Amino acid sequence: MAADQACAFLAPHLPFTRKPGADSLPHVTLTYAQSLDGFVARHDRKPLPLSGPDSATLTHALRASHDAILVGANTLINDNPSLNTRLVASDAAGQPAQSPRPVILDSTLRTPVSARVFTTPRPRADGSRDSRVIVITCEGRYDRERKRALEEDAGAVVLAVQSDDGRVHLPSALAALRDLGVQSVMVEGGATVIGALLTSPEVRVDLLVVTIAPTVIGRGVHAIGDGVRQDTKDKDGRLPVIPKLVDVQWEQFGADMVMLAKPA
Ligand SMILES: NC(=O)c1ccc[n+]([C@@H]2O[C@H](COP(=O)([O-])OP(=O)(O)OC[C@H]3O[C@@H](n4cnc5c(N)ncnc54)[C@H](OP(=O)(O)O)[C@@H]3O)[C@@H](O)[C@H]2O)c1
Repeated sequence: MAADQACAFLAPHLPFTRKPGADSLPHVTLTYAQSLDGFVARHDRKPLPLSGPDSATLTHALRASHDAILVGANTLINDNPSLNTRLVASDAAGQPAQSPRPVILDSTLRTPVSARVFTTPRPRADGSRDSRVIVITCEGRYDRERKRALEEDAGAVVLAVQSDDGRVHLPSALAALRDLGVQSVMVEGGATVIGALLTSPEVRVDLLVVTIAPTVIGRGVHAIGDGVRQDTKDKDGRLPVIPKLVDVQWEQFGADMVMLAKPA
């Protein structure tokens, strides 16, 4: 069964936490599905199911094993995802599946209050944890009326952090999540967020889980390349560097191949 296979595949990497410390940021797992020719989306960025049923089960087991699940504003708007754990009954450790708190990176609060994520039930077995959606925006860039609507009409928690070249500063976003008690974050895309995270000199990705589906798209959005500002130096004059991968493991889930690795 795919759920058992997912548990066995992920178990050696548990728990998804970092050593406690005053300034330690949450554990970060970056995961996405790509086509055989390296795309995460069609060129028009319309929703494109890539994972087969078995690797989708793996993704949901992974979701259930994290405190939060994070996506970029475009994924939220284009795909209108539920970001829940409906495909699994338990997490990677065999405990009853919890729904992670959805987190949206949204510099100017474009997220619509009607998004599905706000009305998706998010039962938590422990009953005590706050499961409200978190929208992280940039100080000084958001519209106050949009913030009010997201908080009062959609029931979201809106956090404003410092901006980094017009977008949410990733270390500040992770620190804000840590301050809310989030110890592990699963980042599920899209391409811009994947590229920003993998090349950030300030944020460490602990685990990378990539599903490769036997599908050819032909023209689309590259998983990493299209999201990386390749020729844009950071404030310290450094060009983006995509880290090497170590501890690489491959396993077949249904028709898909899944790679699990650690960025060095
Ligand atoms: N195959 C998969 O596994 C998978 C998974 C997820 C999504 N997708 C696909 O990916 C496509 C969307 O990808 P995308 O690249 O257009 O958008 P995205 O990565 O979902 O969202 C990017 C947007 O997030 C906001 N953002 C705020 N702070 C950011 C930061 N520090 N770094 C990066 N982004 C930040 C920015 O918008 P603002 O400036 O407005 O804040 C940015 O334009 C969709 O077609 C979706 O279907 C595929």
